[in-house]
Amino acid sequence: MDLFDWQSSGEWIPVCKLDDLQKNKGKRFVVAGREIAIFRTENGVFATDDYCPHMGDSLSAGRIWEGTVVCPRHMWAFRLADGRCTDVPTLSVPTYKVTVRDGWVLLKKPVE
Ligand code: FES
Repeated sequence: MDLFDWQSSGEWIPVCKLDDLQKNKGKRFVVAGREIAIFRTENGVFATDDYCPHMGDSLSAGRIWEGTVVCPRHMWAFRLADGRCTDVPTLSVPTYKVTVRDGWVLLKKPVE
């Protein structure tokens, strides 16, 4: 029995099926009113805000590279694990907890 009852917890939001995500690509979703980029990588599934904190380009269109997403406009890289920019360490993009259960990608409900 799976003790993680995501359907009744109210804390996890189903975003898409895992099979809807291409490997080593990002995809944009609107979840709880926020534009979220979901990335399926060799090391798991990650979620960040879709907006680059530099000048707002869509990170979901970025390239996955060594645990980061590389913004398509100025090529700054953001670590998928914690959002920290590896080019400008004082800059970061918000990240969200993600898990995969029963073939669904679930996003932990963002704190208001
Ligand atoms: S807009 Fe993303 S690095 Fe400049």
